[in-house]
Amino acid sequence: MYSETNLIENKKKVSIILPTYNESQNIIQILKSIEEHLPKNFKAETIVVDDNSPDGTGKIVDDYLNFKKIANNTIDIIHRTTKSGLASAILKGIQHATGEIIVVMDSDFSHPPQIIPKMLESLKKYHSDIVIASRYAKGGSIEQWTLKRKLMSKLATKIAKSSLNVSAKDPMSGFFLFKKNLLHDLKFDGIGYKLLLEILVKTKGAKITEVPYTFTNRKFGSSKLGLDVIFNYGKSVFKLYRYGKTIESQEPRKSIRFISKAARFYTVGLSGFVVNYLVSLLLAGNIPELWFVHANIYGIAASMTTNFFLNKFWTFEDRSLKPKKIIVQFLKFIGFSSLGALLQLGIVFSLIDQYEISFPVALFIGVLSAAFGNFILNKKLTFKE
Ligand code: GDD
Repeated sequence: MYSETNLIENKKKVSIILPTYNESQNIIQILKSIEEHLPKNFKAETIVVDDNSPDGTGKIVDDYLNFKKIANNTIDIIHRTTKSGLASAILKGIQHATGEIIVVMDSDFSHPPQIIPKMLESLKKYHSDIVIASRYAKGGSIEQWTLKRKLMSKLATKIAKSSLNVSAKDPMSGFFLFKKNLLHDLKFDGIGYKLLLEILVKTKGAKITEVPYTFTNRKFGSSKLGLDVIFNYGKSVFKLYRYGKTIESQEPRKSIRFISKAARFYTVGLSGFVVNYLVSLLLAGNIPELWFVHANIYGIAASMTTNFFLNKFWTFEDRSLKPKKIIVQFLKFIGFSSLGALLQLGIVFSLIDQYEISFPVALFIGVLSAAFGNFILNKKLTFKE
């Protein structure tokens, strides 16, 4: 059984966002029920976001607030002038919220407030970023929905999971909580009903857990889910699909294959040969007092430097670009390249001296071995991440 004493979260504040449109028969009861079930060792605020409900829901909340001063749980209401949709109402509430943890739920009792403590516990226990009250996790269910509504929900879930690549079992849930800082810097469209889906797509990598619950159809009032909501769902999935593709294309390519890396590395090597040759020639020809060996040393240094930068930013472009690593990488690159040069000399010398192989053939084998050794060492050790 869940025990409130397990939660030692004294300083944490929970903001519960309650969107309302024509919920006059539910709103006071749900506010009371939330207050009753919230763990007392959390600070809490409940934010009602009402869209000028014709049935006077907003006025009912105003009157209730004037009448009641609540100790542990403050209640606030945002009045919007027109009905602008569930997701945008939730976003409005989130903007207003001051808690570190945001709970989103309906105000018609289809989302039982008794589950909130379990969700908070799950957040802490599994170090989650998002906890979803789930109808489709093991143990979850839906009561009193028509077959048509059940099928629509299943279909919408299937579309979301396959086209947007979300792993949650119930990405269409309207009952969830998350750490507010998770949304830091992100922009939301807030189209239609499915804000959770947008959050899941835009916070890829966030740790998600699901707590099973039974969704019970409302007793009072009626669902506002109409054709516009279905149309907006399609629009939202399309936008999120495009968003996913844009993010993918911006990500550094993770797997430039071995072959392509080797080809780039040797192309760079070839360019280094040209740099080395030209710099050495240019210096020796233009500075008469410079000994040709010194000119060649400068040429080697110049080619190693250009090789390093080309390899870092082109051959291994998919690996770390952390600036503080650059000096260490540069030194390693020079070290391994020098080792490669020594290896080449050693191979050429021993092939000629011991096996009496002709110079062109020995040189070919030496250059090839050194180039391959260089590539492997730099790939594995210099540009390893
Ligand atoms: N402020 C505001 N503005 N609130 C709205 C609006 C709006 O335009 N539309 C709906 N709401 C409020 C309702 O008053 C209710 O508290 C909650 O949002 C859910 O609306 P319903 O119309 O009752 O939703 P539903 O029961 O059909 O849909 C449920 O199932 C979905 C899962 O399939 C909801 O639980 C959704 O949250 C859930 O995603």
